[in-house]
Amino acid sequence: MFKITVIPGDGIGKEVIQSAVEVLETLNTKFDFVYQDAGKECYEKCSTNLPPDTIESCRSSDGTLFGAVTSIPQQKSAIVTLRRELDLYVNQRPIKSYENEDIDFTIIRENSEGLYANIEEDYGDECIATRKITYKGCERIIKYAFDYATKTNRKRVTASHKSNVLPITDGIFRDTFYNIAGSYKNIESDDYYIDATAMYLITKPEYFDVIVTTNLFGDILSDEAAGVVGSIGLLASANIGDNTGLFEPVHGSAPDIAGKNKANPIAAILSSAMMLEYLGIHDEAEQINNAVEEVIKEGQIKTPDLGGHNNTIDMTSAILKKL
Ligand code: NAI
Ligand code: MG
Repeated sequence: MFKITVIPGDGIGKEVIQSAVEVLETLNTKFDFVYQDAGKECYEKCSTNLPPDTIESCRSSDGTLFGAVTSIPQQKSAIVTLRRELDLYVNQRPIKSYENEDIDFTIIRENSEGLYANIEEDYGDECIATRKITYKGCERIIKYAFDYATKTNRKRVTASHKSNVLPITDGIFRDTFYNIAGSYKNIESDDYYIDATAMYLITKPEYFDVIVTTNLFGDILSDEAAGVVGSIGLLASANIGDNTGLFEPVHGSAPDIAGKNKANPIAAILSSAMMLEYLGIHDEAEQINNAVEEVIKEGQIKTPDLGGHNNTIDMTSAILKKL
């Protein structure tokens, strides 16, 4: 029995997590789901957007399923704090097009430092955010990217950075990348500046296999990649550390469609499959991935983000039926 912390959060987070839990409940593996609060509604109820009980529950679980949280002005982001508290230094985001099978790559985003290191100061006329880059942080994310490429039979890892303007911090990132690349003789390596990467993601998305990058760049590239494959409602992610993992859709709480049964639950459902992979439950992870792929390819059920008129429940039911 696996202990899974479930944090629905705010907005569509609550709707799509419900779908992901329903999918997990149809499988043969049994889970002990422990529900915890985080986010804006939680803040309004108990004056914190991330209660200590939530952090401890995640820490002691085999994995966490996370919906999305709505940000609150002047409050530190609950998800960023959770990633740091649990030292989930990898953010792995598979990008796969169901229309063009040549578009299939993974963004490996450093998840614990960079401009998300939470060092921001207000000096009145001048406000400064610090971009923290460490040798250890670069090494572990870049090694992870090459190990991931090896394990998944990928042929190339591309580093994306801005070392022309940030010669120290991104110089370390680029140099560490090529030092580590040297020990992976079977994997090609190359690098682009982040701005060029952003362009190539549009002009030659088929080129990419594994992209490794720093925290903020990875965040921005992910949403761009969502545009490339058609909808952010399709993109799942795994936040992984040495002790546990947290699995969440790439999207946020989408207040514009929240509470309307309009959200595409696929990103959350695929995130639950990533959790199963992480837990070593490979067959059932594959069953979920296949069920999603079949429903998309049949094209009978489409949520509005995919150009259709079906709702969250219709999409969830179609996937459950395949399972
Ligand atoms: P968002 O990802 O919530 O929404 C961007 C756009 O994509 C919106 O038009 C939304 O309707 C659409 N969208 C998102 N998920 C969808 C789905 N599953 N199906 C169909 N359409 C979908 O990003 P936005 O609007 O920038 O942020 C909204 C709130 O979410 C903010 O408070 C933000 O801070 C928070 N956020 C939280 C994240 C997290 O908890 N990990 C990640 C990103 C944003
Ligand atoms: Mg984002």
